[in-house]
Amino acid sequence: MKILVTGGTGYIGSHTCVELIKKGYDVVIFDNLFNSKIDVLDRIEKITGVRPQFYRADLRDEDSMRPVFEEHKFDAVIHFAGLKAVGESVEKPLLYYENNIAGSINLCKLMSEYGCKRLIFSSSATVYGDPAQIPITEECPKGQCTNPYGWTKSMLEQVFTDVQKADDEWSVVLLRYFNPIGAHESGLLGESPNGIPNNLMPYIMQVAVGKLPELGVFGDDYDTPDGTGVRDYIHVVDLARGHVNAVDKVTGSTGVNIYNLGTGNGYSVLDIVKAFEAANGIKIPYQIKPRRAGDIATCYADPSKAAKELGWKAELDLKKMCEDSWNFAKKSLT
Ligand code: NAD
Ligand code: WQD
Repeated sequence: MKILVTGGTGYIGSHTCVELIKKGYDVVIFDNLFNSKIDVLDRIEKITGVRPQFYRADLRDEDSMRPVFEEHKFDAVIHFAGLKAVGESVEKPLLYYENNIAGSINLCKLMSEYGCKRLIFSSSATVYGDPAQIPITEECPKGQCTNPYGWTKSMLEQVFTDVQKADDEWSVVLLRYFNPIGAHESGLLGESPNGIPNNLMPYIMQVAVGKLPELGVFGDDYDTPDGTGVRDYIHVVDLARGHVNAVDKVTGSTGVNIYNLGTGNGYSVLDIVKAFEAANGIKIPYQIKPRRAGDIATCYADPSKAAKELGWKAELDLKKMCEDSWNFAKKSLT
């Protein structure tokens, strides 16, 4: 089976390519390399022994994508490509709406034109807004997003749902990720954001290598066990495996199917600091800061639908997430 992976040189995409190749799928990647590097292909090859075919193409430029569809017949598309920096999306909403929404519509049109109507989309728990219930099931109503990035995910879910409704040859799987962290255990693949990181684990990594002096903990007065924000951190390799299972679903059914990809465990900011320190023997100095605008207190998944219908469950624990994050960071940041 041949799978197109958009954004396949990125953080989650690259790990997913590895898991797909391991299961014998034929993988083709396109990416504009805005937030990733071409040497990821060497790394995927080093891990799997297979070098996926790569196209430098941009979602916003139909002509750059067309050769990909001219030259291959895909059984499914896994669509990771997109911009994802929450803060930047507040400052540059049009960039986000154009890249993520207009770009994904271009992709959808080409898929339709070339007769590939099976789509797995990278959505996010952010579509639940401040969730109506914890743990969050897929039946939980979607909420108000607090930034344009989140709205692109929420709106694209609607776009793909409407496309499927109009043409029932389409099969769409919407995967709502919780908080991916960790890295491939080889240390060859991981996340290395540009500039000062916004997300917790990449920030901790910068403190651990000594590039930043301390972590700011955004609020200790939430209604949570220790007052700091609680999230469902999931190892990126578990998340990647979830996509492999979703390929069976998207190729074996029609309609729109939605799954939470999380572990079902909630950990606070201070739990993560302690787990990182214990796993790696490195002290992470921190200081309590005011709450960050737009943050919610608690967010973790009920992942039972994915277990039942995709046969997928997260397997790697927080210790492994911390060890693998550090194993990658110490090689790439120092
Ligand atoms: P990433 O930035 O590492 O990967 C995205 C890739 O898309 C990058 O390689 C980038 O160069 C590429 N890209 C961006 N715009 C493009 C365009 N117009 N044309 C072609 N390629 C383009 O991000 P990631 O963490 O791997 O996230 C993958 C997907 O999962 C994204 O859609 C993201 O919004 C979503 N997601 C991520 C998280 C998270 O915490 N990392 C959580 C929920 C959802
Ligand atoms: C986690 C916790 C912070 C940094 C974001 C996006 C979401 C999805 C995943 C992408 C919170 C606290 C953080 C720091 C801190 N992204 N924190 N100090 O906000 O749950 O989700 O990433 O697609 O859409 O919103 O993740 O890692 O930023 O924060 O105290 O320096 O860590 O307040 O409680 P978040 P995060």
